[in-house]
Amino acid sequence: MIIVVGSNKGGVGKTTLASNLAVAFASRAQKVVLVDADPQGSALYWGAMRQQERHSPQITVVQRRGNLVDALRLLDQQHQIVLVDVPGRNSQELISAMSVADTLVSPLTCSQLDLETLQELEEQVHAVRMLNPDLRVLLYQSMATTNPAIRQRERSDFCRYVRDFKGLQLGNSIGFQRLIYRDCISQGTGVIESGNPHAAHEIQQLLGEILHG
Ligand SMILES: Nc1ncnc2c1ncn2[C@@H]1O[C@H](COP(=O)(O)OP(=O)(O)O)[C@@H](O)[C@H]1O
Ligand SMILES: [Mg+2]
Repeated sequence: MIIVVGSNKGGVGKTTLASNLAVAFASRAQKVVLVDADPQGSALYWGAMRQQERHSPQITVVQRRGNLVDALRLLDQQHQIVLVDVPGRNSQELISAMSVADTLVSPLTCSQLDLETLQELEEQVHAVRMLNPDLRVLLYQSMATTNPAIRQRERSDFCRYVRDFKGLQLGNSIGFQRLIYRDCISQGTGVIESGNPHAAHEIQQLLGEILHG
């Protein structure tokens, strides 16, 4: 199964999500590979930290660039789960990965600048579905506020904006803004290993949605 974490925006939490999903799948004894297709190499850095600190389960992180079609098909034969962290903004990596993926998970925050990239995503998805009609696209609200006074309003603003994009499915799971996500990236871990039940639940819930719709 090929799962791409991608959007047309940087800084929305793609690498954070991809590494956390990798840990969550691997902890279910799935054979996982995380593909870093972003020249920034953040996922590679995370993988190197994980290896250095000898966290278990081990997760293979590989770097691939450019047209990912052949590379992802090959990795898909060798693993149960292929997670792909792609660079933003209409990159060759994003488009080629979408053309062979089962699911695109697209994180975005509830900010006008992020939401405005949805039009472009819808057009890309429309074009890619000519090649890959079964591509599933799951929009994921990332870095949501934990402030109880405004979190409901933020979620409803997000839902109202997103529901106009018919080809893109809005997921029920939400990733909140939590320091633990930052700590985990620098330590080479995932939040399900951190003892923070709220963050762990967020990732497990998203994993459930990816697997079971
Ligand atoms: N849920 C979260 N809560 C708090 N900080 C987050 C969360 N997700 C990501 N971040 C932080 O936001 C920044 C961008 O995240 P990153 O995963 O690198 O995004 P991208 O890969 O889309 O550029 C990083 O500093 C990261 O630690
Ligand atoms: Mg990144």
